[in-house]
Amino acid sequence: MVASQNKLRGAVIGFGFISGKGHIPAYLERAKSAADVEIVAVADICEARRNLIQEVLPKARVYADYEALLKAESGNLDFVDISTPPCDHAKIAHAAFDRGLHVLCEKPLTTTLDEAKALLDHAQKAKRVLFPAHNYKHAPVVKAIREIIDSGRIGKVRSLTLNTYRNTHAKGVNEWKTHWRREKKFSGGGIAMDHGSHTFYLTFDWLASYPTAVTAKMTNLEPGRYDTEDNFTAVLTFPTGMAHAHLTWTAGVRKVIYTVQGERGAITVDDDDLQLAVMEATGGPDVAQGAVKWNVEKRVIHSHWMDASHVSWFNSLFDQFRGAIAQGDWVGKEAREAYRCIEIITQAYKSAGEGCREMPLTPVLPWDNRDGSNKKA
Ligand SMILES: NC(=O)c1ccc[n+]([C@@H]2O[C@H](COP(=O)([O-])OP(=O)(O)OC[C@H]3O[C@@H](n4cnc5c(N)ncnc54)[C@H](O)[C@@H]3O)[C@@H](O)[C@H]2O)c1
Repeated sequence: MVASQNKLRGAVIGFGFISGKGHIPAYLERAKSAADVEIVAVADICEARRNLIQEVLPKARVYADYEALLKAESGNLDFVDISTPPCDHAKIAHAAFDRGLHVLCEKPLTTTLDEAKALLDHAQKAKRVLFPAHNYKHAPVVKAIREIIDSGRIGKVRSLTLNTYRNTHAKGVNEWKTHWRREKKFSGGGIAMDHGSHTFYLTFDWLASYPTAVTAKMTNLEPGRYDTEDNFTAVLTFPTGMAHAHLTWTAGVRKVIYTVQGERGAITVDDDDLQLAVMEATGGPDVAQGAVKWNVEKRVIHSHWMDASHVSWFNSLFDQFRGAIAQGDWVGKEAREAYRCIEIITQAYKSAGEGCREMPLTPVLPWDNRDGSNKKA
């Protein structure tokens, strides 16, 4: 391990869409602008993908599997970036912790709750950072939502709707298994497993608490072809309110529409378009609707939603990962929220399988502070 140097040396495991178009270009840019990261090695099980690595990282050493990479390189490394399909996230992360490395892991953290628990426990024991790529928090329009909530202009947030529309399942690179997201053995599930984490960690942030229960429904419109859901809807109960999440791969359009309802106003986001409606003072709560005046602001906040690599959000995420390493925040808020996302997804699958039965969620996690405040332990 190359401890406490300013420059973090990393290895990327899985050279597919997200690392090829998102992570690695962002690392290269950052290597120029901040000179605080260098990717020294890459592993991919697919020969055709390995043959493309030299084009972007001519100096990187290339391996056919993560075990060979870790064996040869762990002495030169601070962290691994896991960008493989979810079925392999846990085993690669455990191997990295065993070698004393920090882990930046793509979502979903794992495909089962037991795997997630074992991983958080291992990070704590190994004293190495486990950090999920929860990159939607770093979208400019999502940061604007947080700023508005922080400003107090809409009061306390009471309810949310988060709609994610996609015209198809996301596809992997052509050289490997393009449709792995529709095969449970690789993905662990359909759109909820693939995208649900993004939806759920945003709800935690906006409602400022963690949910206590979930109920869900889902469909698979091509059961003869795929064994995963393509449409998913869930309602989450929070101590502070409720959230409705809808995710679809059959929408005929690619976009997000989020609404955040507060005591005195609301935010509506439709990709880059943000509308803030705030109730003006009316002289008292018991006035007829006609007497309420609305102050409506419209903004366009370019967030590059159509670029599925979200390369422009990565730098801000990596800043947080670096910060967690610097502070020794092994199982920080982000890792615990990744665990909560997996719990919601897996409990939602049970709910959908049992006629939408409401399923409980864990209020306080073993890695939380005793008061459940979720501050660094
Ligand atoms: N945060 C985001 O916005 C975002 C966006 C896209 C993908 N992702 C996540 O990134 C991960 C990868 O998705 P993708 O779209 O890049 O997939 P992909 O199919 O394009 O790439 C996966 C790559 O991993 C390689 N691979 C598979 N198993 C491996 C293993 N055990 N060891 C080494 N290499 C292996 C494949 O050969 C392929 O090159 C997934 O977890 C996905 O959910 C996140």
